[in-house]
Order: sequence, then structure tokens, then C-alpha cells
Amino acid sequence: MAWARPHLHSLLLLFLVFFYSCAANPTARAPLSSTVLYDSDHRPYSANASTVLVGPAGPAMILPLFHHITKKSQSASSSSGTLSNAKHRKNLRKSSIPHSLPHARMGLYDDLLLDGYYTTQLWIGTPPQKFSLIVDTGSTVTYVPCSTCEQCGNHEDPKFAPELSLTYEPMKCTMECNCDVENVFCTYERQYAEMSTSSGVLGGDLFSFGNDSGLDPQRAVFGCENVETGDLYTQHADGIMGLGRGDLSVVDQLVDKGVINDSFALCYGGMEVGGGAMVLGSVSPPPDMVFTGSDPLRSPYYNVDLKEIHVAGKKLQLDPKIFNGKYGTVLDSGTTYAYLPEQAFSVFKDAIMKELHSLKRIHGPDPNYNDICFAGASSNVSELSRTFPKVELAFEKGQKILLSPENYLFRHSKVNGAYCLGVFQNGKDPTTLLGGIIARNTLVVYDRENAKVGFWKTNCSELWERLQLATSSPAPSPQPSHQNNHTEEASSVLAPSPSDLPHYALRGIT
Ligand SMILES: *[C@@H]1O[C@H](CO)[C@@H](O)[C@H](O)[C@H]1NC(C)=O
Ligand SMILES: *[C@@H]1O[C@H](CO)[C@@H](O)[C@H](O)[C@H]1NC(C)=O
Ligand SMILES: *[C@@H]1O[C@H](CO)[C@@H](O)[C@H](O)[C@H]1NC(C)=O
Ligand SMILES: *[C@@H]1O[C@H](CO)[C@@H](O)[C@H](O)[C@H]1NC(C)=O
Ligand SMILES: *[C@@H]1O[C@H](CO)[C@@H](O)[C@H](O)[C@H]1NC(C)=O
Ligand SMILES: *[C@@H]1O[C@H](CO)[C@@H](O)[C@H](O)[C@H]1NC(C)=O
Repeated sequence: MAWARPHLHSLLLLFLVFFYSCAANPTARAPLSSTVLYDSDHRPYSANASTVLVGPAGPAMILPLFHHITKKSQSASSSSGTLSNAKHRKNLRKSSIPHSLPHARMGLYDDLLLDGYYTTQLWIGTPPQKFSLIVDTGSTVTYVPCSTCEQCGNHEDPKFAPELSLTYEPMKCTMECNCDVENVFCTYERQYAEMSTSSGVLGGDLFSFGNDSGLDPQRAVFGCENVETGDLYTQHADGIMGLGRGDLSVVDQLVDKGVINDSFALCYGGMEVGGGAMVLGSVSPPPDMVFTGSDPLRSPYYNVDLKEIHVAGKKLQLDPKIFNGKYGTVLDSGTTYAYLPEQAFSVFKDAIMKELHSLKRIHGPDPNYNDICFAGASSNVSELSRTFPKVELAFEKGQKILLSPENYLFRHSKVNGAYCLGVFQNGKDPTTLLGGIIARNTLVVYDRENAKVGFWKTNCSELWERLQLATSSPAPSPQPSHQNNHTEEASSVLAPSPSDLPHYALRGIT
């Protein structure tokens, strides 16, 4: 039942391909993209968008991220949000911020191991229709299959039926958007690095973030899909929630309405546990959170200023410029693994292999891939750091984050106690792409307002509970379905941080 190999996704948007992108290449499953491009919806997609987006300033929100080990295991109870209100939300930060905006808190589901992605749940329309969406910082528009879809796969939930929503309004064609052939409605089209595509019409409707969110439903523009190809067609998740930078991003839309601060955070569960949590809006950073600059002018993606990689305490002999090629070092929550430029990969791989004296090199689980795998380690993920070296990423001022083995390995699906490198060469592309694996059990704060990204090692399954505690919410936390035997690794190790941050933290998280 388990797949031969964890699903490999790269939902980094391709830049140049905006209109009629080429058909998906069905064989393009190779580790990634010599074409990390982007389509940019920085262009104004509609001068009238703001008319769709009117709303009073209000709270921000936290959203749980969930997972299921098998596709069918997601229980209704874990998918229903939990109750809490804006007053509770405010308590989270009341010690430091007098009148801060609340935030949306949402669960994450799925996991990288089997699905290659994490999803959250979003409800659209009146009455709300539920969707399971891949959280993707590498793209902007949010979309779901439309009831009118001509080519959509079978996904987790029924297609969005605009005709059943009292509040849906299609976005009418203007000079500012890409119009359909009849010049009636605005359309969108996206192509991703994995070569899947999505296209459809744009419309506005109410987004609800679950009962747990401190944020009231908000009008937002999203895509109603009419055609999907590639992995977008075959995947279980319904669609994508775009968290990137751009007018159509759900983050930009909520920020523009003044309902959340210009920040969001993701916390992906571990190798065995999956799930996690997402916060739309700002969270007060723990004092020892490690920050790195993220220059919005450098590229349209969320970049980090990576300078060095250390393996087993030794700095790899690499020119820091190598991590600044093309789009630089991009954090993409919608990409499964990590991809390094050719030379960096080669040096990294050699350094890792040099440390693995006791392990035996074996073939990967899938003969179609030339995975680098090792047998003879513990099947208990918590014990991997005894066998595999520690890896650190160092940023512009020497500040470092620790990568646990689960941040650079994936489990071999056929051999017990065997693991494979979840870091690959990015083809001939000089971009460094850090996917979700890097962020397992790490709270990653995308502080857009201050142009920086923060990392903090934690147990992301518990983060959710601690946020609940911090907000005095009586609600139960959505639990990931524990269907396996091993506890995840939850190293709370964190490199020292030259933190200039205020000394307040999410209560209960330390
Ligand atoms: C939210 O709470 C209401 C009332 O308790 C319930 O009927 C509804 O199903 C809940 N919605 C979700 C998405 O959990
Ligand atoms: C939200 O933004 C406002 C205005 O920039 C700022 O004063 C406040 O501290 C922010 N809230 C948080 C929690 O960062
Ligand atoms: C867009 O705005 C123009 C003028 O600002 C207005 O005439 C037109 O009706 C608007 N279209 C929509 C779809 O709201
Ligand atoms: C859990 O352990 C049992 C026996 O120890 C084994 O048969 C089973 O395959 C394991 N399940 C998983 C998901 O690893
Ligand atoms: C995994 O290893 C940790 C740390 O050594 C230990 O506490 C835990 O009991 C182990 N779990 C299992 C299932 O063996
Ligand atoms: C992380 O939290 C989850 C949920 O509370 C728990 O099951 C797991 O054992 C924790 N991991 C560690 C290593 O403490």
C-alpha cells in the first residue's frame, strides 16, 4: 500500500509561463526543475479586486495542519476545527502587544512521507464547502476544482459548486486581468516546477478558516479550476493554498484587508507524525528563534540568506556565492525535498557519506530513481542522530540552524532501518531550493513585514497544543492519526542565536 517512494512534489511556480503553458510532461518526475521560474501575479490582476475584498479590519489567525498516513485515515474529528475565539487569541500576545491583530490558526494534515506535501483545510462559500489544500509558499493563487471542471481528477472533497454558494461572485473581465475567450470573466493559469498545471476562472467568496480560527470568514479571490494536469490531477488533495508574495496570495489579500499582520508561520510535523500547524498573522517569536534576512526584491519567492553548510561540525568548502545563484536560496513549503546546486550537492553528499562508517550503502526503494540510501540504522527516528551527522545551515551573520536527520533523510519504504538522502542536485539549476523536509519539527516564521524568516526547532505536534494552552482554549487539539510505531525525533536543539528580538515567547513553548 505504501508507495515505493515518497511522492515528490515541487509546487514552486514557474515564472515565465503565464498564459498557455505547455502540456505537462508526464515523465518529468526527476528531481527537479532546471526551470525554477515564476509567473508572477505581481501584475495587477484586477483593478476591481478591492471591491471584492472589502471588509473591516479584524483579527488574525492560527490554523492547524493535519496529516494522514493512509489516504483514507483522516477522521472527521481530526478534520473539524476546534473552537476558540478572538479574545483568546489576543491573550497569546497580550503580554507584549497591546492591540495586536489576532491570527488564523489552522491544522496541517498529510505528510511528506507518503504524500509529499502538507495540507490545511479551508472552507469556501455560504454555506461553507470544505477543501483540503496543499500549503504552498512557492506560489500565490489559491484554487479548488470547480463544478464546471472539464479535466479534474478525483480528490478528497467534492468540487466547489459556485451555484450553491450565496456569496460567490465571479470576477468580471477587465483590462487588468486575463480574460476568458468570451471576455466575460478573469482567468488564471499556473504551471509548477514539477510540470503540473492548473487553470480556471477567478472568483470571490467567503473563506472560513475553521472553528478554531480567531478570524471571521473573509472575502477572498480564488481560482475555480477548469483544467488540471500532472500531479495536480492525480493527487489526493483538492488544490493549493497560495502563501507566496503577490496580489492573489491569500496572505496578501488578508493583509491588504487589514485583518492580519504581514506575517505567517508554518510548523511541519516530523518524519513519523506528520501534521503540524499554520498561523496566518504574526506570532511572537521565541527569544531564541534564529532569523535570516528575506529580501523581497531579491526574488519573488521567500529567500533566505544561506552562506554555509556544516556537516558534523565541519564547514563545507564552498564559496557562499553558490547559494545565491539565480533565485538564491528559496524556501518552498510546497516542494517535498531539498535541492542544491551541482557543486554544493556533490560536496554535501561526500561529507555525509564520510560520516557514515557503520552503515551499508543500498539501492533506493524505487529503481526509477538513483537514491542514495543506507541500511543498518535504527528504525527509531529518535535515535538517528546517533548514526547520522548533524547538519547546520549558517546564514549571513553566522547564525545557524540545526538540521536533524529527519530534515535531510527520508525513510526507505522497503528496508527497515534504512534511510535515503532527501537532498538532491537541482539539475543544472543554480537555485538552492529548500523544501518541506528542511522544516520538519521547525517553526518557520515568514515575517514579511520585517523582511526576515525565523526558524525555531520544536515538536510541531505539540506546538499546536501549546498554542491552545497559550490561548486558554478548552478545545481539544486535532491529533494526527498515529498509525505507526515510532516516535518522531523532536530535537529541541537550536543553535545559539544573536537574537535582537523582544523577550517574549509563545507561552508554554520552551
Ligand atoms: C463548527 O462548529 C459548528 C457548531 O459547533 C459545527 O456545526 C461545525 O460543523 C463546525 N465546523 C467545522 C468546520 O468544524
Ligand atoms: C502587528 O502589526 C502592528 C503594526 O505594524 C505592530 O505594532 C504589532 O506589533 C504587530 N503584531 C505582532 C504580534 O507582531
Ligand atoms: C470595475 O471598476 C469600474 C470602475 O472603477 C466599474 O465601472 C466596473 O463596474 C467594475 N467592475 C466590477 C466587476 O466590479
Ligand atoms: C508496527 O510494529 C509491528 C510489530 O512490531 C509491525 O508488524 C508493523 O508493521 C509496524 N507498523 C508500522 C507502521 O511500522
Ligand atoms: C526511541 O528512542 C527513544 C530515545 O532513545 C526512546 O526514548 C524511545 O522509547 C524509543 N522508541 C521506541 C518505540 O523504541
Ligand atoms: C511530539 O509530540 C507528539 C504529540 O504530542 C508526541 O506524540 C511525540 O512523542 C512528541 N515527540 C517527542 C520526541 O517528544
